[in-house]
Amino acid sequence: MYTVSKRVNPVKRMYLLLEEWFTLSFGADWNPLYHLGTLTFFFFWVVLISGLYLFIFFDTSIAGAYASVEHMTHQQWYAGGVMRSLHRYASDAAVVTILLHMFREFALDRYRGFRWWSWLTGVPTLWFVITLGITGYWLVWDELGLYVAVLSSQLMDSLPVMSGSMARDFLAGQLTDRLFTLMGFLHLLGQPILLIFAVWLHVKRLSHVEVSAPRGLAVGSLLALLVLSLLAPATSHAPAELSKVPAVLHLDWFYLNVYPLLDQWPATRVWMLTTSVTLLLMLMPWLPPKKTGPAAEVHLDECNGCGQCAEDCPFDAISVQARSDDSRWENEVVVNPEQCAACGICVGSCHSSNPFRHAKKTLETGIDMPQFPIDEVRARTVAALDELSGDTRIMLFGCDNAADIDSLRSPDVAVLSLFCTGMIPPTLVEYAHRHGADGVFITGCRTGDCYFRLGNRWLDQRFAGRRKPALRQRAQRDRIRVYRAAETDTARLRRELAAFQRDMAALKQEASVPGTRGEAEIADA
Ligand code: HEM
Ligand code: SF4
Ligand code: SF4
Repeated sequence: MYTVSKRVNPVKRMYLLLEEWFTLSFGADWNPLYHLGTLTFFFFWVVLISGLYLFIFFDTSIAGAYASVEHMTHQQWYAGGVMRSLHRYASDAAVVTILLHMFREFALDRYRGFRWWSWLTGVPTLWFVITLGITGYWLVWDELGLYVAVLSSQLMDSLPVMSGSMARDFLAGQLTDRLFTLMGFLHLLGQPILLIFAVWLHVKRLSHVEVSAPRGLAVGSLLALLVLSLLAPATSHAPAELSKVPAVLHLDWFYLNVYPLLDQWPATRVWMLTTSVTLLLMLMPWLPPKKTGPAAEVHLDECNGCGQCAEDCPFDAISVQARSDDSRWENEVVVNPEQCAACGICVGSCHSSNPFRHAKKTLETGIDMPQFPIDEVRARTVAALDELSGDTRIMLFGCDNAADIDSLRSPDVAVLSLFCTGMIPPTLVEYAHRHGADGVFITGCRTGDCYFRLGNRWLDQRFAGRRKPALRQRAQRDRIRVYRAAETDTARLRRELAAFQRDMAALKQEASVPGTRGEAEIADA
Protein backbone atom coordinates (compact mmCIF):
# COMPACT_ATOMS: atom_id res chain seq x y z
CA MET A 1 0.00 0.00 0.00
CA TYR A 2 1.24 3.50 -0.83
CA THR A 3 2.21 5.62 2.22
CA VAL A 4 4.37 8.68 2.75
CA SER A 5 6.46 10.07 5.62
CA LYS A 6 7.15 13.78 6.13
CA ARG A 7 10.06 15.56 7.75
CA VAL A 8 10.80 19.24 7.29
CA ASN A 9 14.47 20.20 7.58
CA PRO A 10 15.39 23.53 9.24
CA VAL A 11 16.45 25.23 5.97
CA LYS A 12 13.11 24.42 4.36
CA ARG A 13 11.22 25.49 7.48
CA MET A 14 13.06 28.82 7.51
CA TYR A 15 12.46 29.37 3.81
CA LEU A 16 8.74 28.55 4.09
CA LEU A 17 8.41 31.08 6.90
CA LEU A 18 10.14 33.70 4.76
CA GLU A 19 7.80 32.97 1.85
CA GLU A 20 4.81 33.22 4.16
CA TRP A 21 6.00 36.62 5.35
CA PHE A 22 6.32 37.77 1.72
CA THR A 23 2.83 36.46 0.94
CA LEU A 24 1.46 38.47 3.87
CA SER A 25 3.21 41.59 2.51
CA PHE A 26 2.61 41.19 -1.25
CA GLY A 27 -0.21 38.65 -1.54
CA ALA A 28 0.31 35.21 -3.09
CA ASP A 29 -0.05 36.46 -6.68
CA TRP A 30 2.69 39.05 -6.30
CA ASN A 31 4.97 37.23 -3.92
CA PRO A 32 8.38 37.83 -5.61
CA LEU A 33 9.72 34.58 -4.16
CA TYR A 34 7.18 32.69 -6.31
CA HIS A 35 8.30 34.53 -9.44
CA LEU A 36 12.08 34.53 -9.31
CA GLY A 37 12.46 32.94 -12.78
CA THR A 38 10.02 35.35 -14.44
CA LEU A 39 11.51 38.32 -12.57
CA THR A 40 14.91 37.33 -13.98
CA PHE A 41 13.37 37.37 -17.46
CA PHE A 42 11.89 40.77 -16.72
CA PHE A 43 15.29 42.17 -15.67
CA PHE A 44 16.78 40.72 -18.86
CA TRP A 45 14.19 42.71 -20.84
CA VAL A 46 15.19 45.90 -19.05
CA VAL A 47 18.86 45.09 -19.72
CA LEU A 48 18.09 44.42 -23.39
CA ILE A 49 16.07 47.59 -24.00
CA SER A 50 18.44 49.87 -22.09
CA GLY A 51 21.37 48.09 -23.78
CA LEU A 52 19.94 48.77 -27.24
CA TYR A 53 19.70 52.44 -26.35
CA LEU A 54 23.31 52.54 -25.10
CA PHE A 55 24.48 50.71 -28.23
CA ILE A 56 23.13 53.49 -30.46
CA PHE A 57 25.43 56.06 -28.84
CA PHE A 58 28.33 53.80 -27.92
CA ASP A 59 31.60 54.11 -29.82
CA THR A 60 33.07 50.61 -30.14
CA SER A 61 36.64 51.85 -30.69
CA ILE A 62 39.11 51.85 -27.84
CA ALA A 63 39.78 55.54 -28.37
CA GLY A 64 36.17 56.63 -28.34
CA ALA A 65 34.45 54.21 -25.92
CA TYR A 66 35.05 56.08 -22.68
CA ALA A 67 34.11 59.49 -24.12
CA SER A 68 30.89 58.10 -25.64
CA VAL A 69 29.83 56.57 -22.29
CA GLU A 70 30.65 59.81 -20.48
CA HIS A 71 28.71 61.80 -23.05
CA MET A 72 25.62 59.63 -22.52
CA THR A 73 25.98 59.77 -18.75
CA HIS A 74 26.41 63.52 -18.35
CA GLN A 75 25.19 65.27 -21.50
CA GLN A 76 21.89 63.40 -21.74
CA TRP A 77 21.50 62.30 -18.14
CA TYR A 78 17.68 62.11 -18.41
CA ALA A 79 17.94 59.44 -21.12
CA GLY A 80 21.47 58.12 -21.49
CA GLY A 81 22.38 58.43 -17.81
CA VAL A 82 19.17 56.81 -16.62
CA MET A 83 19.42 54.14 -19.31
CA ARG A 84 22.97 53.36 -18.26
CA SER A 85 21.94 53.12 -14.61
CA LEU A 86 18.93 50.95 -15.49
CA HIS A 87 21.24 48.70 -17.51
CA ARG A 88 23.58 48.28 -14.57
CA TYR A 89 21.02 47.91 -11.81
CA ALA A 90 18.77 45.54 -13.77
CA SER A 91 21.86 43.37 -14.41
CA ASP A 92 22.62 43.34 -10.68
CA ALA A 93 18.98 42.60 -9.87
CA ALA A 94 19.07 39.64 -12.28
CA VAL A 95 22.01 38.13 -10.37
CA VAL A 96 20.11 38.59 -7.10
CA THR A 97 16.98 36.88 -8.46
CA ILE A 98 19.03 34.06 -10.01
CA LEU A 99 20.85 33.40 -6.74
CA LEU A 100 17.56 33.48 -4.81
CA HIS A 101 15.94 31.21 -7.41
CA MET A 102 18.82 28.79 -7.00
CA PHE A 103 18.65 28.92 -3.20
CA ARG A 104 14.89 28.41 -3.30
CA GLU A 105 15.15 25.25 -5.42
CA PHE A 106 17.78 23.99 -2.99
CA ALA A 107 15.93 24.94 0.21
CA LEU A 108 12.68 23.36 -0.96
CA ASP A 109 14.53 20.28 -2.24
CA ARG A 110 13.47 20.93 -5.81
CA TYR A 111 16.79 20.24 -7.46
CA ARG A 112 17.20 16.47 -7.26
CA GLY A 113 15.44 13.46 -8.76
CA PHE A 114 13.48 14.34 -11.90
CA ARG A 115 14.60 17.97 -11.54
CA TRP A 116 18.31 17.19 -12.12
CA TRP A 117 18.21 18.59 -15.65
CA SER A 118 16.96 22.04 -14.67
CA TRP A 119 19.55 22.27 -11.91
CA LEU A 120 22.46 20.97 -14.00
CA THR A 121 21.75 23.38 -16.86
CA GLY A 122 21.08 26.25 -14.43
CA VAL A 123 24.65 26.32 -13.08
CA PRO A 124 26.40 27.24 -16.38
CA THR A 125 23.58 29.72 -17.02
CA LEU A 126 24.69 31.61 -13.95
CA TRP A 127 28.25 31.78 -15.31
CA PHE A 128 27.02 32.98 -18.70
CA VAL A 129 25.24 35.85 -16.96
CA ILE A 130 28.33 36.73 -14.91
CA THR A 131 30.69 36.72 -17.90
CA LEU A 132 28.20 38.89 -19.79
CA GLY A 133 28.49 41.44 -16.98
CA ILE A 134 32.29 41.21 -17.02
CA THR A 135 32.55 42.10 -20.73
CA GLY A 136 30.11 44.95 -20.03
CA TYR A 137 32.47 46.49 -17.47
CA TRP A 138 35.38 46.01 -19.87
CA LEU A 139 33.62 48.06 -22.56
CA VAL A 140 33.43 51.27 -20.48
CA TRP A 141 37.23 51.38 -20.74
CA ASP A 142 37.74 53.29 -17.54
CA GLU A 143 40.07 52.26 -14.72
CA LEU A 144 37.70 49.48 -13.74
CA GLY A 145 37.48 48.32 -17.37
CA LEU A 146 41.26 48.19 -17.53
CA TYR A 147 41.42 46.27 -14.23
CA VAL A 148 38.90 43.74 -15.58
CA ALA A 149 40.78 43.51 -18.87
CA VAL A 150 44.20 42.93 -17.29
CA LEU A 151 43.00 40.42 -14.70
CA SER A 152 40.81 38.58 -17.25
CA SER A 153 43.91 38.34 -19.45
CA GLN A 154 45.88 36.90 -16.55
CA LEU A 155 43.17 34.30 -16.11
CA MET A 156 43.18 33.47 -19.83
CA ASP A 157 46.99 33.35 -19.94
CA SER A 158 47.05 30.69 -17.25
CA LEU A 159 45.05 28.32 -19.46
CA PRO A 160 47.24 25.80 -21.30
CA VAL A 161 45.52 26.52 -24.65
CA MET A 162 46.40 30.23 -24.60
CA SER A 163 49.66 31.79 -25.76
CA GLY A 164 50.23 33.32 -22.33
CA SER A 165 50.97 36.86 -23.53
CA MET A 166 47.61 38.62 -23.32
CA ALA A 167 48.27 40.41 -20.02
CA ARG A 168 51.77 41.39 -21.14
CA ASP A 169 50.37 42.81 -24.37
CA PHE A 170 47.92 44.91 -22.46
CA LEU A 171 50.47 46.38 -20.19
CA ALA A 172 52.75 47.06 -23.13
CA GLY A 173 49.86 49.04 -24.66
CA GLN A 174 49.36 46.58 -27.49
CA LEU A 175 45.64 46.14 -27.03
CA THR A 176 44.31 46.55 -30.49
CA ASP A 177 41.02 48.05 -31.52
CA ARG A 178 40.21 44.64 -32.96
CA LEU A 179 40.26 42.91 -29.56
CA PHE A 180 38.16 45.70 -28.09
CA THR A 181 35.66 45.33 -30.94
CA LEU A 182 35.62 41.58 -30.28
CA MET A 183 34.61 42.28 -26.66
CA GLY A 184 31.87 44.55 -28.01
CA PHE A 185 30.66 41.78 -30.32
CA LEU A 186 30.71 39.23 -27.48
CA HIS A 187 28.81 41.51 -25.11
CA LEU A 188 26.27 42.73 -27.61
CA LEU A 189 25.60 39.56 -29.57
CA GLY A 190 27.66 36.45 -28.82
CA GLN A 191 27.02 36.13 -25.10
CA PRO A 192 23.31 37.10 -25.22
CA ILE A 193 22.71 34.43 -27.88
CA LEU A 194 24.55 31.85 -25.78
CA LEU A 195 22.49 32.88 -22.76
CA ILE A 196 19.19 32.55 -24.63
CA PHE A 197 20.22 29.07 -25.77
CA ALA A 198 21.26 28.11 -22.21
CA VAL A 199 17.93 29.31 -20.75
CA TRP A 200 16.04 27.45 -23.47
CA LEU A 201 17.89 24.25 -22.49
CA HIS A 202 17.24 25.05 -18.82
CA VAL A 203 13.45 24.99 -19.19
CA LYS A 204 13.32 22.43 -22.00
CA ARG A 205 11.91 19.68 -19.79
CA LEU A 206 9.10 21.85 -18.46
CA SER A 207 5.82 22.78 -20.07
CA HIS A 208 3.70 25.95 -19.73
CA VAL A 209 6.77 27.89 -18.58
CA GLU A 210 5.85 31.39 -17.50
CA VAL A 211 8.14 34.03 -18.98
CA SER A 212 6.24 37.15 -17.95
CA ALA A 213 6.34 38.39 -14.38
CA PRO A 214 2.96 39.47 -12.96
CA ARG A 215 2.29 43.04 -14.11
CA GLY A 216 2.26 44.56 -10.61
CA LEU A 217 5.56 42.96 -9.75
CA ALA A 218 7.13 44.08 -13.05
CA VAL A 219 5.91 47.68 -12.64
CA GLY A 220 7.04 47.77 -9.00
CA SER A 221 10.49 46.41 -9.89
CA LEU A 222 10.89 48.90 -12.74
CA LEU A 223 9.92 51.78 -10.46
CA ALA A 224 12.42 50.61 -7.85
CA LEU A 225 15.15 50.46 -10.50
CA LEU A 226 14.22 53.93 -11.75
CA VAL A 227 14.32 55.42 -8.27
CA LEU A 228 17.71 53.81 -7.66
CA SER A 229 18.96 55.10 -11.02
CA LEU A 230 17.93 58.65 -10.13
CA LEU A 231 19.24 58.54 -6.57
CA ALA A 232 22.55 56.83 -7.31
CA PRO A 233 23.28 57.09 -11.05
CA ALA A 234 25.88 54.71 -12.45
CA THR A 235 29.11 56.55 -13.17
CA SER A 236 32.55 55.69 -14.56
CA HIS A 237 35.96 55.72 -12.96
CA ALA A 238 38.70 57.87 -14.52
CA PRO A 239 39.64 56.89 -18.09
CA ALA A 240 41.88 53.84 -18.46
CA GLU A 241 45.56 54.70 -18.45
CA LEU A 242 48.00 51.86 -18.77
CA SER A 243 50.74 53.72 -16.95
CA LYS A 244 48.59 54.56 -13.93
CA VAL A 245 47.55 52.30 -11.06
CA PRO A 246 44.06 53.35 -9.90
CA ALA A 247 43.88 54.51 -6.27
CA VAL A 248 40.38 53.20 -5.49
CA LEU A 249 38.22 50.81 -7.47
CA HIS A 250 34.51 50.39 -6.82
CA LEU A 251 33.87 46.77 -7.66
CA ASP A 252 30.45 45.43 -8.60
CA TRP A 253 30.46 42.41 -6.30
CA PHE A 254 27.63 40.74 -8.19
CA TYR A 255 29.81 40.33 -11.26
CA LEU A 256 33.43 40.94 -10.32
CA ASN A 257 33.65 38.94 -7.11
CA VAL A 258 36.34 36.56 -8.40
CA TYR A 259 38.85 39.27 -9.36
CA PRO A 260 40.08 40.34 -5.90
CA LEU A 261 41.20 36.74 -5.40
CA LEU A 262 43.81 37.32 -8.10
CA ASP A 263 45.54 39.80 -5.77
CA GLN A 264 46.20 36.96 -3.35
CA TRP A 265 46.39 33.83 -5.48
CA PRO A 266 47.91 32.75 -8.77
CA ALA A 267 45.42 32.51 -11.62
CA THR A 268 45.63 28.68 -11.72
CA ARG A 269 44.42 28.48 -8.12
CA VAL A 270 41.50 30.82 -8.90
CA TRP A 271 40.58 28.56 -11.83
CA MET A 272 40.76 25.50 -9.57
CA LEU A 273 38.48 27.11 -7.01
CA THR A 274 35.86 28.32 -9.50
CA THR A 275 35.92 25.05 -11.46
CA SER A 276 35.56 22.96 -8.29
CA VAL A 277 32.67 25.09 -6.99
CA THR A 278 30.96 24.85 -10.38
CA LEU A 279 31.40 21.07 -10.58
CA LEU A 280 30.24 20.61 -7.00
CA LEU A 281 27.13 22.68 -7.71
CA MET A 282 26.43 20.69 -10.88
CA LEU A 283 26.78 17.40 -9.02
CA MET A 284 24.45 18.43 -6.20
CA PRO A 285 21.38 16.58 -7.56
CA TRP A 286 23.27 13.34 -6.89
CA LEU A 287 24.65 14.25 -3.45
CA PRO A 288 22.67 12.26 -2.46
CA PRO A 289 20.28 11.38 -5.28
CA LYS A 290 16.52 11.40 -4.82
CA LYS A 291 14.35 8.59 -6.07
CA THR A 292 11.39 9.33 -8.31
CA GLY A 293 8.49 6.85 -8.23
CA PRO A 294 7.56 4.68 -11.21
CA ALA A 295 6.42 6.58 -14.30
CA ALA A 296 2.80 6.88 -15.39
CA GLU A 297 1.52 4.06 -17.59
CA VAL A 298 -0.86 4.36 -20.53
CA HIS A 299 -3.71 1.87 -20.88
CA LEU A 300 -4.72 2.05 -24.50
CA ASP A 301 -8.02 0.20 -23.91
CA GLU A 302 -9.27 3.22 -21.94
CA CYS A 303 -7.54 5.96 -23.96
CA ASN A 304 -9.17 7.75 -26.88
CA GLY A 305 -6.09 9.86 -27.61
CA CYS A 306 -7.75 13.16 -26.62
CA GLY A 307 -4.35 14.52 -25.54
CA GLN A 308 -5.59 16.24 -22.36
CA CYS A 309 -2.96 14.48 -20.23
CA ALA A 310 -0.19 15.60 -22.62
CA GLU A 311 -1.51 19.16 -22.43
CA ASP A 312 -1.53 19.07 -18.60
CA CYS A 313 1.76 17.28 -17.90
CA PRO A 314 4.01 19.86 -16.17
CA PHE A 315 7.20 18.09 -17.23
CA ASP A 316 6.52 17.60 -20.91
CA ALA A 317 6.73 13.84 -20.41
CA ILE A 318 3.76 12.85 -22.59
CA SER A 319 3.61 12.99 -26.36
CA VAL A 320 0.66 12.42 -28.66
CA GLN A 321 1.41 9.93 -31.43
CA ALA A 322 -0.39 8.01 -34.14
CA ARG A 323 -2.37 5.06 -32.83
CA SER A 324 -0.42 1.83 -32.64
CA ASP A 325 -3.37 -0.56 -32.07
CA ASP A 326 -6.37 -1.23 -34.30
CA SER A 327 -8.82 0.93 -32.34
CA ARG A 328 -11.01 3.51 -34.10
CA TRP A 329 -9.18 6.43 -32.48
CA GLU A 330 -6.59 8.38 -34.41
CA ASN A 331 -4.07 9.07 -31.64
CA GLU A 332 -2.58 7.65 -28.48
CA VAL A 333 -0.25 9.04 -25.86
CA VAL A 334 3.20 7.82 -24.92
CA VAL A 335 4.98 8.57 -21.63
CA ASN A 336 8.70 9.25 -21.61
CA PRO A 337 9.72 7.61 -18.30
CA GLU A 338 12.95 9.64 -18.20
CA GLN A 339 10.97 12.86 -17.83
CA CYS A 340 8.06 11.63 -15.74
CA ALA A 341 8.01 13.11 -12.23
CA ALA A 342 5.37 10.64 -11.00
CA CYS A 343 3.11 13.52 -10.00
CA GLY A 344 -0.13 11.81 -11.05
CA ILE A 345 -1.55 15.02 -12.57
CA CYS A 346 -2.26 13.16 -15.83
CA VAL A 347 -4.55 10.77 -13.91
CA GLY A 348 -6.65 13.75 -12.86
CA SER A 349 -6.68 14.94 -16.50
CA CYS A 350 -8.10 11.76 -17.98
CA HIS A 351 -11.87 11.61 -18.37
CA SER A 352 -11.61 7.82 -17.92
CA SER A 353 -10.49 8.31 -14.31
CA ASN A 354 -14.16 8.84 -13.40
CA PRO A 355 -14.76 6.65 -10.30
CA PHE A 356 -18.46 6.23 -11.15
CA ARG A 357 -17.34 3.97 -14.03
CA HIS A 358 -16.88 0.21 -13.58
CA ALA A 359 -18.59 0.31 -10.20
CA LYS A 360 -18.42 -3.46 -9.74
CA LYS A 361 -14.95 -4.13 -11.09
CA THR A 362 -11.48 -2.65 -11.19
CA LEU A 363 -11.49 0.97 -12.36
CA GLU A 364 -9.19 1.22 -15.36
CA THR A 365 -8.23 4.57 -16.80
CA GLY A 366 -6.30 5.83 -19.83
CA ILE A 367 -3.21 6.79 -17.85
CA ASP A 368 -2.44 5.64 -14.33
CA MET A 369 0.19 5.51 -11.62
CA PRO A 370 1.29 1.90 -11.05
CA GLN A 371 2.23 2.60 -7.39
CA PHE A 372 -1.15 4.16 -6.54
CA PRO A 373 -3.70 3.43 -9.27
CA ILE A 374 -6.99 5.31 -9.47
CA ASP A 375 -8.81 2.10 -8.49
CA GLU A 376 -6.92 2.13 -5.17
CA VAL A 377 -7.62 5.86 -4.75
CA ARG A 378 -11.33 5.10 -5.15
CA ALA A 379 -11.23 2.07 -2.83
CA ARG A 380 -9.32 3.97 -0.12
CA THR A 381 -11.70 6.92 -0.35
CA VAL A 382 -14.68 4.63 0.23
CA ALA A 383 -12.93 2.66 2.98
CA ALA A 384 -11.87 5.86 4.78
CA LEU A 385 -15.43 7.24 4.61
CA ASP A 386 -16.89 3.94 5.83
CA GLU A 387 -14.74 4.13 8.97
CA LEU A 388 -16.18 7.50 10.04
CA SER A 389 -18.51 7.49 13.03
CA GLY A 390 -19.02 11.23 13.60
CA ASP A 391 -22.09 13.31 12.78
CA THR A 392 -20.54 15.52 10.09
CA ARG A 393 -18.43 13.46 7.76
CA ILE A 394 -15.58 15.16 5.95
CA MET A 395 -13.39 13.65 3.23
CA LEU A 396 -10.02 15.39 3.32
CA PHE A 397 -7.77 14.99 0.28
CA GLY A 398 -4.20 16.19 0.79
CA CYS A 399 -0.89 16.21 -1.01
CA ASP A 400 2.33 14.44 -0.10
CA ASN A 401 4.37 17.62 -0.55
CA ALA A 402 2.32 19.96 1.61
CA ALA A 403 0.88 20.02 5.15
CA ASP A 404 0.78 16.70 6.96
CA ILE A 405 -2.86 15.67 7.06
CA ASP A 406 -2.49 12.48 9.10
CA SER A 407 -2.82 14.39 12.37
CA LEU A 408 -6.19 15.77 11.17
CA ARG A 409 -7.79 12.32 11.02
CA SER A 410 -10.72 11.97 13.46
CA PRO A 411 -14.09 10.18 13.76
CA ASP A 412 -15.46 13.02 11.59
CA VAL A 413 -12.58 13.40 9.17
CA ALA A 414 -11.29 10.78 6.73
CA VAL A 415 -7.94 11.59 5.12
CA LEU A 416 -6.24 10.49 1.93
CA SER A 417 -2.94 11.92 0.73
CA LEU A 418 -2.22 11.92 -3.01
CA PHE A 419 0.95 12.71 -4.96
CA CYS A 420 -0.52 16.09 -5.89
CA THR A 421 -4.02 17.54 -5.69
CA GLY A 422 -3.84 17.87 -9.48
CA MET A 423 -4.28 14.07 -9.42
CA ILE A 424 -7.90 14.49 -8.31
CA PRO A 425 -10.44 13.95 -11.08
CA PRO A 426 -13.36 16.30 -10.29
CA THR A 427 -15.71 13.30 -10.39
CA LEU A 428 -13.87 11.88 -7.36
CA VAL A 429 -15.23 14.77 -5.30
CA GLU A 430 -18.78 14.02 -6.37
CA TYR A 431 -18.12 10.35 -5.74
CA ALA A 432 -17.05 11.12 -2.15
CA HIS A 433 -20.25 13.14 -1.68
CA ARG A 434 -22.24 10.22 -3.01
CA HIS A 435 -20.49 7.85 -0.60
CA GLY A 436 -21.46 9.74 2.51
CA ALA A 437 -19.11 12.72 2.75
CA ASP A 438 -21.02 15.79 3.93
CA GLY A 439 -18.14 17.87 2.68
CA VAL A 440 -14.93 17.43 0.70
CA PHE A 441 -11.93 19.45 1.86
CA ILE A 442 -8.89 19.62 -0.40
CA THR A 443 -5.51 20.85 0.72
CA GLY A 444 -2.21 20.97 -1.14
CA CYS A 445 0.87 23.15 -1.62
CA ARG A 446 0.47 26.86 -0.99
CA THR A 447 -1.19 28.96 -3.70
CA GLY A 448 1.45 29.87 -6.28
CA ASP A 449 3.85 27.22 -5.05
CA CYS A 450 2.75 23.80 -6.32
CA TYR A 451 5.56 21.26 -5.84
CA PHE A 452 4.66 19.80 -9.23
CA ARG A 453 4.31 23.29 -10.74
CA LEU A 454 0.81 23.07 -12.25
CA GLY A 455 -1.32 20.83 -10.00
CA ASN A 456 -2.92 23.76 -8.13
CA ARG A 457 -3.61 25.68 -11.32
CA TRP A 458 -5.26 22.75 -13.11
CA LEU A 459 -7.37 21.84 -10.06
CA ASP A 460 -8.67 25.43 -9.82
CA GLN A 461 -9.42 25.55 -13.55
CA ARG A 462 -11.19 22.18 -13.52
CA PHE A 463 -13.31 23.21 -10.55
CA ALA A 464 -14.11 26.56 -12.20
CA GLY A 465 -15.22 24.71 -15.34
CA ARG A 466 -12.41 26.21 -17.45
CA ARG A 467 -10.45 23.02 -18.02
CA LYS A 468 -11.30 19.46 -18.88
CA PRO A 469 -12.34 17.35 -17.09
CA ALA A 470 -14.48 20.05 -15.47
CA LEU A 471 -16.42 19.76 -12.24
CA ARG A 472 -20.02 19.37 -13.34
CA GLN A 473 -22.42 22.28 -12.95
CA ARG A 474 -24.65 20.21 -10.72
CA ALA A 475 -21.84 19.37 -8.27
CA GLN A 476 -22.49 20.90 -4.88
CA ARG A 477 -19.78 23.52 -4.70
CA ASP A 478 -20.82 24.71 -1.25
CA ARG A 479 -19.83 21.26 0.01
CA ILE A 480 -16.31 21.59 -1.38
CA ARG A 481 -13.50 23.69 0.02
CA VAL A 482 -9.97 24.13 -1.27
CA TYR A 483 -7.50 25.50 1.27
CA ARG A 484 -3.77 25.40 0.68
CA ALA A 485 -1.11 24.95 3.32
CA ALA A 486 2.56 24.00 3.49
CA GLU A 487 4.15 21.73 6.09
CA THR A 488 4.61 24.68 8.46
CA ASP A 489 0.95 25.80 8.21
CA THR A 490 -0.74 22.91 10.03
CA ALA A 491 -2.26 25.08 12.78
CA ARG A 492 -3.86 27.39 10.19
CA LEU A 493 -5.10 24.35 8.27
CA ARG A 494 -6.62 22.84 11.40
CA ARG A 495 -8.60 26.06 12.04
CA GLU A 496 -9.84 26.19 8.46
CA LEU A 497 -10.90 22.55 8.59
CA ALA A 498 -12.79 23.16 11.83
CA ALA A 499 -14.58 26.11 10.21
CA PHE A 500 -15.50 23.94 7.23
CA GLN A 501 -16.84 21.24 9.57
CA ARG A 502 -19.05 23.83 11.25
CA ASP A 503 -20.28 25.07 7.86
CA MET A 504 -21.08 21.52 6.77
CA ALA A 505 -22.89 20.81 10.03
CA ALA A 506 -25.00 23.94 9.46
CA LEU A 507 -25.68 22.91 5.88
CA LYS A 508 -26.75 19.46 7.03
CA GLN A 509 -28.99 20.99 9.63
CA GLU A 510 -30.55 23.20 6.96
CA ALA A 511 -30.98 20.20 4.68
CA SER A 512 -32.79 18.25 7.38
CA VAL A 513 -35.55 20.89 7.49
CA PRO A 514 -38.24 19.67 5.07
CA GLY A 515 -38.58 21.67 1.87
CA THR A 516 -35.23 23.45 2.02
CA ARG A 517 -32.83 23.80 -0.90
CA GLY A 518 -30.22 21.69 0.91
CA GLU A 519 -32.46 18.64 1.22
CA ALA A 520 -33.28 18.68 -2.49
CA GLU A 521 -29.63 19.03 -3.51
CA ILE A 522 -28.31 16.33 -1.22
CA ALA A 523 -31.01 13.94 -2.38
CA ASP A 524 -30.14 14.79 -5.98
CA ALA A 525 -26.47 14.03 -5.40
C1 HEM B 1 19.35 32.95 -16.35
C2 HEM B 1 19.06 32.43 -15.22
C3 HEM B 1 17.83 31.62 -14.95
C4 HEM B 1 16.56 31.81 -15.41
C5 HEM B 1 16.04 32.91 -16.31
C6 HEM B 1 15.77 30.74 -14.88
C7 HEM B 1 14.45 30.57 -15.11
C8 HEM B 1 13.71 29.48 -14.73
C9 HEM B 1 12.32 29.28 -15.03
C10 HEM B 1 11.42 30.24 -15.77
C11 HEM B 1 11.98 28.07 -14.52
C12 HEM B 1 10.61 27.41 -14.59
C13 HEM B 1 9.84 27.72 -13.35
C14 HEM B 1 8.44 27.17 -13.46
O1 HEM B 1 7.75 27.53 -14.42
O2 HEM B 1 8.08 26.37 -12.60
C15 HEM B 1 13.14 27.51 -13.89
C16 HEM B 1 13.17 26.30 -13.26
C17 HEM B 1 14.24 25.83 -12.54
N1 HEM B 1 15.45 26.46 -12.33
FE1 HEM B 1 16.01 28.19 -13.21
N2 HEM B 1 16.56 29.93 -14.11
C18 HEM B 1 17.83 30.44 -14.12
C19 HEM B 1 18.93 29.95 -13.46
C20 HEM B 1 18.91 28.86 -12.61
C21 HEM B 1 20.03 28.43 -11.81
C22 HEM B 1 21.36 29.13 -11.72
C23 HEM B 1 19.61 27.30 -11.15
C24 HEM B 1 20.35 26.44 -10.20
C25 HEM B 1 21.54 26.03 -10.41
C26 HEM B 1 18.25 27.03 -11.54
C27 HEM B 1 17.50 25.97 -11.11
C28 HEM B 1 16.23 25.68 -11.54
C29 HEM B 1 15.50 24.47 -11.20
C30 HEM B 1 16.00 23.31 -10.33
C31 HEM B 1 14.26 24.57 -11.84
C32 HEM B 1 13.17 23.51 -11.85
C33 HEM B 1 11.96 23.98 -11.13
C34 HEM B 1 10.84 22.99 -11.28
O3 HEM B 1 10.99 21.92 -11.90
O4 HEM B 1 9.82 23.28 -10.71
N3 HEM B 1 17.85 28.00 -12.42
N4 HEM B 1 14.18 28.40 -14.02
S1 SF4 C 1 2.83 11.52 -13.72
FE1 SF4 C 1 3.14 13.75 -13.96
S2 SF4 C 1 5.11 13.93 -15.01
FE2 SF4 C 1 4.45 11.80 -15.25
S3 SF4 C 1 3.38 11.77 -17.20
FE3 SF4 C 1 1.83 12.12 -15.62
S4 SF4 C 1 1.62 14.36 -15.51
FE4 SF4 C 1 3.54 13.93 -16.61
S1 SF4 D 1 -6.33 12.09 -21.08
FE1 SF4 D 1 -6.81 9.89 -21.00
S2 SF4 D 1 -7.95 9.52 -22.87
FE2 SF4 D 1 -6.97 11.51 -23.15
S3 SF4 D 1 -5.02 10.99 -24.17
FE3 SF4 D 1 -4.58 11.01 -21.97
S4 SF4 D 1 -4.84 8.88 -21.34
FE4 SF4 D 1 -5.81 9.08 -23.32
